[in-house]
Amino acid sequence: MRIGILGTGMVGKAIAARLAELDHEVLVGTRDPAATLARDEPDRYGNPPFRVWHEQHPGVKLGTFADAATHGELVVNATAGAASIDALRLAGEANLAGKVLIDIANALDHSRGMPPTPLVSTTDSLGERIQRAFPAARVVKALNTMNALLMADPGQLAGGDHTVFVCGDDPEAKTLVTRLLTDAFGWRDVIDLGDLTAARATELVLPIWLRLLGTLQTPMFNLKVVR
Ligand SMILES: NC(=O)c1ccc[n+]([C@@H]2O[C@H](COP(=O)([O-])OP(=O)(O)OC[C@H]3O[C@@H](n4cnc5c(N)ncnc54)[C@H](OP(=O)(O)O)[C@@H]3O)[C@@H](O)[C@H]2O)c1
Repeated sequence: MRIGILGTGMVGKAIAARLAELDHEVLVGTRDPAATLARDEPDRYGNPPFRVWHEQHPGVKLGTFADAATHGELVVNATAGAASIDALRLAGEANLAGKVLIDIANALDHSRGMPPTPLVSTTDSLGERIQRAFPAARVVKALNTMNALLMADPGQLAGGDHTVFVCGDDPEAKTLVTRLLTDAFGWRDVIDLGDLTAARATELVLPIWLRLLGTLQTPMFNLKVVR
């Protein structure tokens, strides 16, 4: 399948690497490909610059956000949440129309350092804002409640038997994303929380996630809903 990934951070790289490994045709989008490849400094988490990762993953193409949205039959939003609407505008409304858009972003305020604070409330969410701004895209919120390293490789913990939430207004789009999560990535506990208003809840998992990170001193953990 042709998949466009918007975002060159930890999430974009992790999802792109796994999907390319599974023989999907992956194109990662960025604002300015030449500038992204020219960056020499590590990212905010101390990971090597994008160029180093790209050299290790020659099968993954790099282009603009618009190239990625045009390329993808399925598109993934892995951009900084506070800038996601801008990034999606650059991707192009027409290029997203009719496509399943997996939204992994959390809208965060990083201006006061760590920990960041959510820019969402209990009455709206980034996922819903994206759906309103791009009504012809089929937004499915998923994978935003755990560390990037687990998203496409959940088997690193408990054999993949921990919880990932999906929500969205398009049942067919949710089915396609759920199949990708289980069959491609190996998730064993996908909970469908219903329509996209559930993104209000999943985007607010972050405060407890950050507390757990501080206490456990590792990002390699996740929630499991036992029932
Ligand atoms: N890191 C995690 O473990 C984790 C876990 C759960 C959810 N998330 C969410 O997943 C998303 C990606 O996270 P990340 O850590 O991989 O990367 P990130 O640093 O949050 O985002 C990087 C991407 O955002 C784009 N971007 C930043 N400012 C922009 C602007 N003003 N206009 C357009 N695009 C802009 C960058 O574009 P360029 O490529 O042009 O620089 C880059 O592609 C975020 O929303 C984050 O909250 C992350």
